Amino acid sequence: MPHLPQKILIATKNLGKVNEIRDLIQDLPIEFLSLAEFPDAPDVVEDGETFEENALKKARTLALATGLVTLADDSGLCVEALNGRPGVLSARYSGEGSSDEEKCLRILEEMSEIPDSERYARFVCVLALADPGGEEYVFRGVCEGRIIRELKGTKGFGYDPIFLYEEEGLTFAEMDRQSKNLVSHRGLALRKFGVFLEQRARP
Ligand code: IMP
Repeated sequence: MPHLPQKILIATKNLGKVNEIRDLIQDLPIEFLSLAEFPDAPDVVEDGETFEENALKKARTLALATGLVTLADDSGLCVEALNGRPGVLSARYSGEGSSDEEKCLRILEEMSEIPDSERYARFVCVLALADPGGEEYVFRGVCEGRIIRELKGTKGFGYDPIFLYEEEGLTFAEMDRQSKNLVSHRGLALRKFGVFLEQRARP
């Protein structure tokens, strides 16, 4: 992929994610499409053991199905005292269809005996870019913090209310979206992707 692609498919139906990428990469002449425009695209089962495996599988499969350069992501929370769980199971921890609150409560319960000094956790986001010819690139962002003992804050989603970002002394659910994006795993991975595209635009 020596040159900048004219179009990139973002492998999600979530328009929030697509708009976040469009906002970040406003200055480059790239059209970003979403899966909403490809209703017949195959569903990809996220059954890998790592975020990289899942993101690459999704990007590869959809690049081949659509003939477009495709960006896919996988992300989640890894808690050290739980041997890295929920990890790649983050979206369905506590059962398929469980609410965000149920998922947070399950983590808190599993960690009830864990002392404050051992509540280290990290959010990870992996973006994979694949082109139909088989070229692949991976961009990884990590954000470190700790798991508190109750839910705090109402913004954000997922595990945000139990994840304390220590530099601010706030949970991700207490931070506004811009402040979270500046330090979050997803923000970091997206900025790495942005730099990669910039380099191709101005070689
Ligand atoms: P994905 O859509 O397969 O990447 O699912 C990732 C899951 O990890 C989400 O459903 C959330 O439960 C969790 N997760 C990922 N990023 C965040 C975040 O920024 N805040 C809170 N939870 C997150």
